[in-house]
Amino acid sequence: MTKLESYLQEHREVFEQDLFELLRIPSISASSEARPDVLAAGQWVADRLTGMGLETELISTDGHPIVFAQTPSVANGPTVLVYGHYDVQPPDPLAEWHSPPFEPTVRNGNVVARGATDDKGQMLTHVQSVRAWLATVGKLPIQIKFLIEGEEEVGSRALHHYLPDHTDQLACDVVVISDTSQFGPGMPAITYGLKGIAYFELTLTGAKQDLHSGTFGGAVANPANALTQLLARFIDNQGRVQIPGFYDDVIPVEDRERQNFAALPFDETRFMQRLEVDALAGEVGYTTLERRWVRPTFDINGLTSGYQGEGAKTVLPASASAKFSFRLVPNQDPTKIAAALRAFLQQHCPPGIRLQLAEMHHSPGVVVSLDSPYVHAAATAIHRAFERPPVFIREGGSIPVVTAFRQHLGSDTLLLGWGQDDDNTHGPNEKFSLADYHRGIRASAYLWEELGKISRRG
Ligand code: BES
Ligand code: ZN
Repeated sequence: MTKLESYLQEHREVFEQDLFELLRIPSISASSEARPDVLAAGQWVADRLTGMGLETELISTDGHPIVFAQTPSVANGPTVLVYGHYDVQPPDPLAEWHSPPFEPTVRNGNVVARGATDDKGQMLTHVQSVRAWLATVGKLPIQIKFLIEGEEEVGSRALHHYLPDHTDQLACDVVVISDTSQFGPGMPAITYGLKGIAYFELTLTGAKQDLHSGTFGGAVANPANALTQLLARFIDNQGRVQIPGFYDDVIPVEDRERQNFAALPFDETRFMQRLEVDALAGEVGYTTLERRWVRPTFDINGLTSGYQGEGAKTVLPASASAKFSFRLVPNQDPTKIAAALRAFLQQHCPPGIRLQLAEMHHSPGVVVSLDSPYVHAAATAIHRAFERPPVFIREGGSIPVVTAFRQHLGSDTLLLGWGQDDDNTHGPNEKFSLADYHRGIRASAYLWEELGKISRRG
């Protein structure tokens, strides 16, 4: 065993305690009340990187701060930008957690806490591996830059503003992100495609205030009725989005890719059992993996209107609202989708209802090239750490900055996920396997070695 490997072995406990510390900080970027906690998490990450001897900055923005740190440049090897996020999604529904979301608890070899896999645990694997290299070898064979932000879960607005003006600071040959999943337990994956997203909030208003539903119902437009009628128009019974032009720019799935997906060991029955559903639903003509990875979708994320308290209340609500999003595939343009949606809503909005559509955030989908020495290095590193070569997959989630990195830095991204797709990300009882945490650290440590064998581009 090399010195580096012994270090990783001996520091398992230290690495876990580090993760638990960060998980105790409730850095919910969507909540304005949590602002000090989001800052504290950013500060924690910056302190950890400083403590390892890295030149580190905690950059304030008009949103949440960005952490930037770097190791010294090296003459020959490539420069790698490690991106991750220290913010998390809101923990609700709170009542469904078996232990408090910000008190990390170990159960069945998993750490359970909001942010365990998404993305504190995964992001820290790269921090720990660099720490191990510095503590044992003293220096890295490549230059590493860390860019860890606090707004990924709400659309990365500050980072999108920061990027175009800091392309020299962030210049790199390749980006590394661990914020995705393996294909299954013991089946590591390199993800080469992510969906984009266009997120909206639609508010409908009717009368000036809530009314008696007997006195006024049937004569005055009901915004909750109108909202359900409008939303029901969005998809037909074939699972096809009905907004004119929605599919215009969708690139059809290639036969070869369909064959690759079909060859993956995906057990649909187990998938249903795990989710406790007795049927799957989606666009007709596509398999479950195709629906999840390469077809655009529509989902309502939240619905609000009328009486939500105990018992019955006969009320005709004055307003109703919905948060919803479209997951987009590469080549679909979120701004075109927003314009088409607006026209569609205006056309179908019933009389007596006023409509307001807020565009919350959007980003396009992305496919990254698999034809590079970096992908080869990543596959080797993963093979060494997980004792199994990775499979190549796409995923349905979004990481908005991946497209921006390509656009502004000209660099492609390696999406190396250590999570599992039953990690309950964004839901109650989020978890991350501690064995995968350590395997991720090991794979990351090997990745720096493998990337060091590639001589710098240009
Ligand atoms: N880690 C996820 C992205 C992800 C999820 C990738 C599932 C692959 C599979 C990330 O933190 C995330 O949830 N992103 C948001 C982005 C959005 C708020 C712009 C998402 O996908 O909902
Ligand atoms: Zn994430």
